[in-house]
Amino acid sequence: MTKRKHKREKAQLFQALTRQSQSAVTHTESPVPASVLATSPTLATLPESNELPKMKKFRFQLMHEWILRRLPKGRVADVGGGKGLLAFLLQQSGWDATVIDPVEQALPSKYKDLTLNRRVKIAATDTIPRLTQPFAPELADSFDLLVSMHAHGCNIQLIDVAAASGKKVVLLPCCIIDEPLLPAPGQHWMACLVEYALAKNLVVEPFRLNFRGQNIGLYIHSE
Ligand SMILES: C[S@@+](CC[C@H](N)C(=O)[O-])C[C@H]1O[C@@H](n2cnc3c(N)ncnc32)[C@H](O)[C@@H]1O
Repeated sequence: MTKRKHKREKAQLFQALTRQSQSAVTHTESPVPASVLATSPTLATLPESNELPKMKKFRFQLMHEWILRRLPKGRVADVGGGKGLLAFLLQQSGWDATVIDPVEQALPSKYKDLTLNRRVKIAATDTIPRLTQPFAPELADSFDLLVSMHAHGCNIQLIDVAAASGKKVVLLPCCIIDEPLLPAPGQHWMACLVEYALAKNLVVEPFRLNFRGQNIGLYIHSE
């Protein structure tokens, strides 16, 4: 084999391995396997999943209901909030809500109200305050609660914020994108986040929303 061919083959092998390792860790929208839950004392406390069919698209409504049930009203940032439906629903419930997301996006024009069981229009004039920039720890200062659903590049930063400032954080993690650390080989991203938070002496309360797929949220706080 010529030196050049050997070099090319080595580069191809490296690329294939990189792709393989990335695909193994980045796709976490499917449910967290029972084996992962069983080996984490924190996650093992979760009840069985009570997933309702076709609810995944209503995850904002389900998270909104969970927050209203569990947390006192205050100033909330929806980090990586996308179009801002969760922030909008919280605003409607009397929260002071802001979206932090580097991509400017308009609110959806309608959503389903699960309590009334009907579609509700969002007026074109309705707005949510937005900070159009990537999340950075100093942005957390103006909020009591930071929520992050399927957000990119924020999960580890938000745990760091909870540890440094005592802010409450709610994560519903999904893919691993732009995070400063990756799980150890064979470790699930959910278990990695739980371990990371516990190592910072934070309290981690896992909970489930009843939709199919990765429906586990982590409520992370300091007391
Ligand atoms: C998969 S979307 C999730 C949107 C919404 N939260 C949801 O559950 O559908 C990821 C969002 O994270 C935003 N994002 C990417 N990098 C970010 C960063 N560094 N800080 C905050 N948001 C970020 C993207 O613009 C995008 O809106």
